[in-house]
Parts: sequence; C-alpha cells; structure tokens
Amino acid sequence: MAPSTAALRLSLALAVAAVLCSGASALFSNLAAVCKKADHADLCYSAAKHIYKAQPITPAGAAKASILVTLESTKQAKNMANALRAKSSKGNPAAMAKANFNVCQQLYDDAIRNLETSLKALDTRSHFDLMINLSAVLTDYSTCDDAFTEEPGLVSPLAKINSQLNMLTKNNLALADALH
Ligand SMILES: *[C@@H]1O[C@H](CO)[C@@H](O)[C@H](O)[C@H]1NC(C)=O
Repeated sequence: MAPSTAALRLSLALAVAAVLCSGASALFSNLAAVCKKADHADLCYSAAKHIYKAQPITPAGAAKASILVTLESTKQAKNMANALRAKSSKGNPAAMAKANFNVCQQLYDDAIRNLETSLKALDTRSHFDLMINLSAVLTDYSTCDDAFTEEPGLVSPLAKINSQLNMLTKNNLALADALH
C-alpha cells in the first residue's frame, strides 16, 4: 500500500478517534462536523459508521472501537515500514537503514499482539491486563523511533505516524481507564 493511502487511512482513524473522545451522546452530529474537516468527508463518514455499526455506543463499546482503530492503524504503519524498507539500500543514508525498519516491523508486530490481547482483556473485563497491554503499546512506538534517533542528528522517517499512533493509544488508555 502506498504511504499516501496509509496516511489517508490514518487521518480517517484520527477523525474517528476525535469523535470517540467527544462523547457518545453527541456522536452522530459530531461525526458530520469532524468528517467535514477531513480531505475525503464521505470516506470519513462511512469509515466511522462502519466501525459503529457493530458497536453499541457504550463506554466499553467506545473503548473497543478506539482500540480497533489503533490496531488497523498499526497495521498501516507496518505496511509503511515495509514500503520504506523496500526502498532502502546500501547507498542510502543511515536514516533509511534496513535494520531500523526491521526493528520497527517487529515492534509493530508486538503492538498488534498487545492490542489483540487488550481486546480479549476488554471482553473478559480484566482491567489490569487491559491497562498493562495498552501501556506496552506506547513503548513499542517510541522504541521504533529510538532505533533511528540513537544516531545523532537522525530523525525517524516513521516519527509522524508514530506520534499519531501515540495519540490514539492515549485515547485508548483514557477510555479504558474510565471503565474502572
Ligand atoms: C497482557 O496481558 C496478558 C494476560 O492477558 C499477560 O499475560 C501479558 O503479560 C500482558 N502483556 C504485557 C506486555 O504486560
């Protein structure tokens, strides 16, 4: 998948996340307002509605939808790391080092596992497991950036998507914490 498509999907995810955090009662009127600001409002609206079709709008349903969006976005980030790695070669600067993309892909895999465990913990109402697995995801994203920034002067080419994933994860933690 081209990075631009991944970026679009992520911006949809963020639009949905913004809706989730604005409170369930105002959900559908907010949805239209939030999606109006997206580049592709129709797509934004249908993506958000798709998520909500299967979700009762309860606090646990909102947490679940938010985690599902993060899971989907992490898969997009992994695709992005894959695409960047394929473009990297020996002649490229260290910012494009294959080894760093490999590290990030493994961390995204770990984040995906932790998010899937979080969904199970949400279903079984295991609050401690839910919070610890959601927190572990934050470390996965920041460790990916660290792989690049260990070398002075380097910026992670995945910093932007990781910072967006970070925001989604903080939403998850806030929504999950409110269930306790
Ligand atoms: C996530 O929760 C499971 C239990 O469901 C636990 O075994 C695992 O250690 C937790 N993950 C982390 C990173 O703490």
